Amino acid sequence: MSFEFSAGAIIYRIEEGRPVFLLLVKDGGEYDIAKGHIEKGETAKMAAEREIMEEAGIRVLFKEGFAKDIRYFFYRKKNRVFKKVKVFLAEADSKNVKISDEHVGYEWADYESVSQKIKFKDMKRVFALAAGYIEKIGLMDDLNRKYGKLPSENGNWGLSSRLVPGEGPLDAKIMLVGQAPGKNEDEKLRPFIGRSGLLLSEALKKAGIRRERCYVTSVVQFFPPKNRMPTEEEVGLCAPFLMQQIEIVNPRWIIALGSLSSSVLAGVEKISEAHGRFVLRGGNKVMPTFHPAAALRFKRIKGLFEEDLSEFAARTGRAENQTGKE
Ligand code: URA
Repeated sequence: MSFEFSAGAIIYRIEEGRPVFLLLVKDGGEYDIAKGHIEKGETAKMAAEREIMEEAGIRVLFKEGFAKDIRYFFYRKKNRVFKKVKVFLAEADSKNVKISDEHVGYEWADYESVSQKIKFKDMKRVFALAAGYIEKIGLMDDLNRKYGKLPSENGNWGLSSRLVPGEGPLDAKIMLVGQAPGKNEDEKLRPFIGRSGLLLSEALKKAGIRRERCYVTSVVQFFPPKNRMPTEEEVGLCAPFLMQQIEIVNPRWIIALGSLSSSVLAGVEKISEAHGRFVLRGGNKVMPTFHPAAALRFKRIKGLFEEDLSEFAARTGRAENQTGKE
């Protein structure tokens, strides 16, 4: 028995508003994606990039947050080989493909036709996830474009005019929602990358939660100067966008970081009393906890914050095992 690791990507283009997917045709007539062995010293992403160049000869843009595993086994000279393929999602900038001599042709096919042409069940499953993901990308881009116009549409705008959009897989099971970006976040246009973000990453890691698998954002996604609390009016303008983002990502669980987020998402009045307990709100399971900035300032709060995250990981891990879902 041996193990092999490959990587590749589902490559798509948007044609007349709908995705079409690249299928490579093998000698025997079966359809496949661009994929191949992960060579020594390569990451899965590097291998996928190289395989795309070698097998399809096109430039692509990888879509962050999408990485799914396909597993199967086959026999090579009576030896059972287990194979794991890491499949990424990438958008092509052209429809001109240059195949290698590993394939005899290629097609750009819409989703319906892909589901008929791809025979392998696990690959079909990943194509279905990719199609759903592409739809979410479109919805989130449209929403963020509208959200980004708020400053110019509202006179007396008191926040930064630069949107710090949420970050992470659009199909994340866990969403983390803070208060509002800080100065570092405003500069880099990425959420939770300053000192609070560092503490958050470390606490998640300690609890066994992988930050890169979470969708991370805030109630207000524009920096309030001097880190002041956003006003009621600002929250009123921004929170509807957060609600639509939650609808798009559709996470199983939300961790509300701090009093503003816990109040908006779970109706919590006192974080010191409500932290660590799940609240069911509008179909979402929300766990209010402290804001990492408070955990930075007070050792006791840091302890409670870490306990909440560990307990969250234990409970949600058990829930996943019970439902048997991925
Ligand atoms: N604090 C927040 O609430 N959000 C960020 O993005 C950064 C710090």
